[in-house]
Amino acid sequence: MTSCGKKAPKLGVHPIDDVIAAMSLEEKASFVVGTERMKTTPPDRAPGMPVREMFSPELKEKLMQCETQEEAMELMIATSLVEGRVQGAAGQHYALDRLGIEPIVYADGPAGLRIDPTRKDDADEYYCTAFPVGVSLSSSWDVELVNEVTRAMGNEVLEYGADVLLAPGINIHRSPLCGRNFEYYSEDPLLAGKIASAYIKGIQSNGVGVSLKHYAVNNQETCRNGVDARLSERALREIYLKGFEIAVKESQPWTIMSSYNKINGTLASENYHTLTEILRDDWGFEGFVMTDWWAEENGARQIAAGNDLQMPGTLHQYEEIYNGVKDGSLDEKTLDQSIRRIMNIMLKTPTYRHYAYSNKPDLGAHAKVTRQAATDGMVLLKNVQKSLPLDSKARVALFGTASYDLLVGGSGSGNVNRKYKVSLDEGLKNAGVELEDNLTKVYKDYTSAERAKMPTENFWSVPVIPEMPLDKALVKNALSKSTVAILTLSRMAGEGGDRHVVKGDYLLSDVEEQNLKLVCQTAHAMGKKVILVLNLGGIVDLTQFVALPDAILHAWMGGQEMGNSLADVLMGKVNPSGKLPLTWALRYSDYPSAGNFPLSDGDSAYVRYAEDVMVGYRHFNTQGIKVLYPFGYGLSYTTFAYNNLIIDVLGEQIKVSADITNTGKVAGREVVQLYVGKPSVDGLLMPAKELKAFTKTKLLNPGETQTVEMIVPCSELATWMEAENKWNVASGEYTISVAANVEDVRLKGVATL
Ligand code: BGC
Repeated sequence: MTSCGKKAPKLGVHPIDDVIAAMSLEEKASFVVGTERMKTTPPDRAPGMPVREMFSPELKEKLMQCETQEEAMELMIATSLVEGRVQGAAGQHYALDRLGIEPIVYADGPAGLRIDPTRKDDADEYYCTAFPVGVSLSSSWDVELVNEVTRAMGNEVLEYGADVLLAPGINIHRSPLCGRNFEYYSEDPLLAGKIASAYIKGIQSNGVGVSLKHYAVNNQETCRNGVDARLSERALREIYLKGFEIAVKESQPWTIMSSYNKINGTLASENYHTLTEILRDDWGFEGFVMTDWWAEENGARQIAAGNDLQMPGTLHQYEEIYNGVKDGSLDEKTLDQSIRRIMNIMLKTPTYRHYAYSNKPDLGAHAKVTRQAATDGMVLLKNVQKSLPLDSKARVALFGTASYDLLVGGSGSGNVNRKYKVSLDEGLKNAGVELEDNLTKVYKDYTSAERAKMPTENFWSVPVIPEMPLDKALVKNALSKSTVAILTLSRMAGEGGDRHVVKGDYLLSDVEEQNLKLVCQTAHAMGKKVILVLNLGGIVDLTQFVALPDAILHAWMGGQEMGNSLADVLMGKVNPSGKLPLTWALRYSDYPSAGNFPLSDGDSAYVRYAEDVMVGYRHFNTQGIKVLYPFGYGLSYTTFAYNNLIIDVLGEQIKVSADITNTGKVAGREVVQLYVGKPSVDGLLMPAKELKAFTKTKLLNPGETQTVEMIVPCSELATWMEAENKWNVASGEYTISVAANVEDVRLKGVATL
């Protein structure tokens, strides 16, 4: 009962506006600030960001009593876990019983649901499926596949009792060194936006929500909390926001997560321009915005800008919002609007639908989905004299520690607590392939001895077994008893840090280089072939080494069934059809961002996006710079011919069709890309080609033809005009290229607008 004796209205029973009208200011400020308040480690601060009290007094005292750093770290990690309804979820909403406000649950994302797999005094298990990472999904260029994966993933969100999955992450690969590129999709916003739309639709088809992240211009981890990304409005609109725009318009995510960084001097979570003027006024976003975890400078400013929920919530935010309304600097109507947006979404959640979740999703069925999905994203980079697929009678000498301990996902919030993972030796054995036993035993003994010495995995770090140095006798002996060598090379990555151009990271380590050379030289001297498998969430500098192996398969981080998926492709059960969602340059310094990454000026926490819209292939292709592998590149075990280009300008759209024929000997699928070259307006520099549509054929049998159709809305050909502050579609001739990759144009025509 309220003080005046009237019963309080309840959310879900009474109209939202009645509930808001019944809320005290304390309740309103509590409602828009998550439950965590003061507990754990906020992300790395850029210079100038406020220094906050990180720990509660109780935790501080306990930390003082820890004897080792590891003990302290474990305590911090343990205290950061939400012990709410779904343990290990990233955050929970503030409950207000009086008003029927129940705590809805937010959990990571994006390669599967991230929750604690076991619970104290509970014999049940809560493992989730580790699906392929983001860059593997986008390499499939297959929106139907992504939708299938995320229908399964969203079912786990629903059945484990969470309401919103904190995914997908779609920030642009501005630099190959960004530590979270494995979670993100591409250097191209159209590919990122289309994959994200399919992802969002798949998850939300389960009646649970997503949080499309990290909005926006969050292209690095260095100084991530507050680094200032300085860029033109044109680059912002055409490159860094475009993927978000596509995803919002096509799939209306329930929520969006703002990012830690500043955009042209203003924090993304306090940025009225991006959060209100663009996201809501221009694009018509209907959901609510939450902060990334502990992204905060001023809670009142966040609400005023249109950042509705502050997660996981700090005391400062609560106080600033409360005081802001009291002193008139924050309009209470603006706060009410944020509350209304959140409540609108809350009412759609399983929590409010009182969904009786089972805690028993069909993990067996989902394992099949992830097994197939990982194969769809694998990119065949090289295949001399049809080295792949392997003969069914192949006897394999399996090299590389990662072959026996594949990295199936990255670290940080994107790491899924899976029940198991399939290594490549297991995958090959499951496929009936004979391995050279002595070599396998040497590797297995080595990996188990090394693993025993290593620290256990935690949120920030998934320790990786160091590469085992090979000696000549072992290699020779193993190859003498085998028909072919497979060597796997891996890299871990995760949030909280960027990669570096050093040996063992962007460059191969000395041991990796020596092993690769030794295996290739020995195998070739014996007339045997070497297959290099790449198990990375991004790329490494391979320029010096591509000539060595006979075939190279980029398998990314393919989720828990990765060993089986790899065997499917290596043995030819599945014909690879993935293509690169990024440009693989000859050297790091060729990337247009290289001079301004991660910071532009020593210790000052800002980055100039000097390359403007010329990101990735837009730069390389326009300047004619030679690359190792171009954007959109990928081979198949078969070949395809492109014929009969038809271009129709139909009112507000351009319709393009072409015939794709399988001209090889095995069935396969082809990713078909449509690039447009725009006429210049007002002397602005235009990329020579921009991806404006793509499609993937069905599985085509040898000799079979499919007519594919791609539609480009004319509005998507617009250029952002800085001076006029608006989009402009120029009249003139647009070149249309139907291509197998950005450099391999198969059919060319013109559309006149
Ligand atoms: C990450 C987000 C994640 C959140 C919750 C942050 O550190 O940047 O991507 O969703 O934590 O775990």
